[in-house]
Amino acid sequence: MKKILIAIDGHSSCGKSTMAKELAKTLHYRYIDSGAMYRAVTLYCLEKGFFNDDTLNIEAIKQSIGDIHISFELNEKTGNSDTYLNGENVEKPIRSMEVADKVSPVAAVGFIREAMVKQQQAMGKDKGIVMDGRDIGTVVFPDAELKLFVTARPEVRAQRRLDELIAKGETVSFDEVLKNIEKRDLIDSTRKDGPLRKAPDAVVLDNSDMTIAEQNAFLLRLLEEMIKNRRRRQFIPAPIASSQ
Ligand code: CDP
Repeated sequence: MKKILIAIDGHSSCGKSTMAKELAKTLHYRYIDSGAMYRAVTLYCLEKGFFNDDTLNIEAIKQSIGDIHISFELNEKTGNSDTYLNGENVEKPIRSMEVADKVSPVAAVGFIREAMVKQQQAMGKDKGIVMDGRDIGTVVFPDAELKLFVTARPEVRAQRRLDELIAKGETVSFDEVLKNIEKRDLIDSTRKDGPLRKAPDAVVLDNSDMTIAEQNAFLLRLLEEMIKNRRRRQFIPAPIASSQ
């Protein structure tokens, strides 16, 4: 079947990446975590000392944006693709609470978004991509053949992210995680450039009360439905020729 683009957008910590990875595996597509790119830019800003408490030095990052190179490479051990910032594997530090705390203001800066969106569009030019983020179905790939908008109740999302962080050895509380995801959701959905929005043609999924197996079954049904519809569209019978 012809390769397509799959865009998965939604709120923080609602399992978009688990879903995107599963879809990519099923279809033998490439998975791109666009949030990891904004997280990598944030890590760069932290390492360079571009933050004064919560205030980002916009001029400094403007001068450096051309020096930030982000790529993804397959990690043979985990089978996942790891994020690299200027040749260095940053998969672990970009997932820290320190980065999560600063990423949304960084991602709201217009010229940073422009640079990331350009790279994301280049990654999708041959299709066969599942990309997750906030503006994938609206800005990055408005013509994506399949769009999903995923959400879940904030408390459910906070618990899932807390479990993830604790498993990685971070010391963090439920309230801290909940506050962080609520703050990010607010900044992400109210910013001027590429705000978090449901694309009009996106399928909405609230997975608050779904297990991963139920979610996978939902995705499979959705894919089957889409393939059926595409076949129907591709095999529209030719008009009957006039006998005269
Ligand atoms: O994993 P989680 O849902 O917590 O977040 P993420 O996908 O890693 O994204 C981290 C942050 O990057 C988000 O809170 C947004 O501020 C920003 N982001 C964005 O602005 N646009 C995207 N396409 C992806 C992420």
